[in-house]
Amino acid sequence: MKTNLNDKKEIATKILAWYDQNARSLPWRISPAKIKEGFKPDPYEVWLSEIMLQQTTVKTVIPYFQNFITLWPTLFDLSKAQDYEILEAWAGLGYYRRASNLIKCASLLYKKFHCTFPTEEAELRKLPGVGNYTAAAISAIAFNNRSVVIDGNVERVISRLFAIQTPIRKSKNTIKNFAEELTPSHRVGDYSQSIMDLGALICKPKNPKCSLCPIKSFCSAYKKDLVSVIPRKEKKKLRPLRFGFAFLALTNSNEFLTLRRPAQGLLGGMISLPCSEWLEKKLPTFSPPFEAKWEPVEMSVKHSFTHFDIQLKIVKGYISKVPKIYEQQPIATIDLEKFPTLFKKVLIKGLEKELYFKSSQT
Ligand code: ADE
Repeated sequence: MKTNLNDKKEIATKILAWYDQNARSLPWRISPAKIKEGFKPDPYEVWLSEIMLQQTTVKTVIPYFQNFITLWPTLFDLSKAQDYEILEAWAGLGYYRRASNLIKCASLLYKKFHCTFPTEEAELRKLPGVGNYTAAAISAIAFNNRSVVIDGNVERVISRLFAIQTPIRKSKNTIKNFAEELTPSHRVGDYSQSIMDLGALICKPKNPKCSLCPIKSFCSAYKKDLVSVIPRKEKKKLRPLRFGFAFLALTNSNEFLTLRRPAQGLLGGMISLPCSEWLEKKLPTFSPPFEAKWEPVEMSVKHSFTHFDIQLKIVKGYISKVPKIYEQQPIATIDLEKFPTLFKKVLIKGLEKELYFKSSQT
């Protein structure tokens, strides 16, 4: 579709007017009305929320964000926290590399920037865990710079608006060019959030609410009746499935053994259960890391990581001597929220009887 400059200005104006009436109320957001009164977003809150929102839904992020802000109201507070405290507060949110980058970034901002944020997009992009999207989002939302913010919602809105017929992965440059042309030079923070909200509330992946859309008269996909097929789908690649054992080792004083994963790699620095290696295609041979009275395997859990799925067989055993590298955790005071979701699933299933007993006692 040919869209001239005036159309593009009008599209941004219409989206902003819609946002003034329909903006979601989010704990890290300054409403458009407050922005007009002169309130400014806190760059720390914008940064924290945007890191949490990478690959994670708004609904999931809200309680985590609120907990972080309660525990660490300022960047200074966060930079003084122990790594394990931050990792534990992050547990369950997934993509744990974000948490270790958060820790690195807070420490760098403390040491080099006196707990402030650089205001330019190019400088923001140099921070640990801050990629193109996040740098643009912080720059636009926290500092109102004319940065072009493109997330999955924006990609979908633009694909439909201009009836882009190739899957998003192959049309990134086209989308970027359109996004640049649409981004206004004023109210950039509000505009960036308005187009994301439009994607989340109206231009949804399934069952979009076109009748309520403020820019439907400009939308090529709407006019051509292509909204349900744009963005075009790609064939899904099958994700590999890995297999392994998780060892739930219990002591005779009702404790179970945990260990901290190495700082580098998957679930870096998170608290975990002893495991076998994880193999593709077949279960590894049964070779527990220490002696115990192991029981026959009856239970397993499945979990999806970004690049693979994992099926862990849960092996329960009773030990009399605790090997040095492990920590003991009393079942009675277990805090499942400290564990990454994979191990939380193992504990819930593997300790079903014990946890039931515990809850029926309280
Ligand atoms: N998704 C990621 N960042 C967002 C934001 N600031 N507002 C709405 N949705 C978002």
